[in-house]
Amino acid sequence: MFDTPDFDNHEEVVSICCPRSGLQAIIAIHSTALGPALGGIRCWSYESGMAAIRDALRLSRGMTYKNALAGLDLGGGKSVILGNPATARSPEALRAFARAIDRLDGRYVGAEDVGMTVADIDLMRDVTPHVAGTSWGASASGDPSPHTAEGVFLGLKATVKAATGSDDLTDARIGVMGLGAVGWKLAEKLYEAGATLLVADINVPRAVRAAAHLKAEIVDAKRLPFEEMDVFAPCALGGVLTRDFAENAPVKMICGAANNQLATSDVDGLLWEAGKLYAPDYLVNAGGVINVAAEAGGEYDAYRVGMKVREIGETTARIIETARTGDQPTGAVADAMALARITEAEEEVVEAQG
Ligand code: NAI
Repeated sequence: MFDTPDFDNHEEVVSICCPRSGLQAIIAIHSTALGPALGGIRCWSYESGMAAIRDALRLSRGMTYKNALAGLDLGGGKSVILGNPATARSPEALRAFARAIDRLDGRYVGAEDVGMTVADIDLMRDVTPHVAGTSWGASASGDPSPHTAEGVFLGLKATVKAATGSDDLTDARIGVMGLGAVGWKLAEKLYEAGATLLVADINVPRAVRAAAHLKAEIVDAKRLPFEEMDVFAPCALGGVLTRDFAENAPVKMICGAANNQLATSDVDGLLWEAGKLYAPDYLVNAGGVINVAAEAGGEYDAYRVGMKVREIGETTARIIETARTGDQPTGAVADAMALARITEAEEEVVEAQG
């Protein structure tokens, strides 16, 4: 584990095994320099235990950067439950997992991610206070996806403004890949703002609904990134921004919700060299974690969440400006800004410890 590139000095990695419930899980805490490590719980059928460890490490490190750049006083962590989501989430297994989170005494706070539901979190909340994204209670934050969509929309407008001088989306051609919880809400906002939509989803009825309700043109999912358009908004899977895309797609800007959009880290530089403005994914999709963080903080305040999500647009503009000034790719600028906050907090901890 120490030798995997994703390990990157994780503070703590815990493996959990409960033979009675069949639970096998990993909790990875990358950094608590800025506060408790907040990150989702993923339930997935991994090829191997090592694949699960790698995924937990990669995602946990990503949360450190996402939370830092969003200006949250939270560190980064992530957990994975190994197994088929249809069978690995028995109430007994979830309770055993909640007990494991509880033993960490608040150093890790879990929330929904792929393969988990709000009902699962509600069940775990009966065992430990260190989960967020519940559906009931005074500070329940509920569904994060509208907040994610709002953040992406604001990031997209800031990107368009940086490229064209105006954030007016009337007649802008925008391709939305993936019309799920976030993609659909984003597409609605773009339509209301006057954009012309191209959409793709492997769930055909969703694409057909977008054609009917949002006057969208349906495009094959593989072809969509290479269509003639102003903005490409990946809202399905990661890895869609490839070398081929950077070099050949006639797209001017990229801004979407999907995590880990860059197929390889060098694509960040290739997009910059090709004159394609990329709004870093973990910056613009932070609306959901901002919402969950408000619940984890114990006092959910919808107004403050809204204000914090609005900052995503401002940070996007600042990152693009800095990238232009230093002729540096936007992803690299975002990483450097997040890292500066983390390093400063680490130095304060060292100083406080004398
Ligand atoms: P979702 O599961 O509700 O929607 C994903 C959609 O993409 C589905 O409609 C699915 O059919 C479609 N899809 C899957 N593979 C596709 C392909 N190859 N081509 C075209 N469409 C495809 O997921 P959700 O919640 O909307 O999340 C979307 C992305 O945003 C994910 O990458 C997720 O990790 C990321 N994200 C979501 C957040 C949230 O608040 N839900 C927060 C931050 C990131």
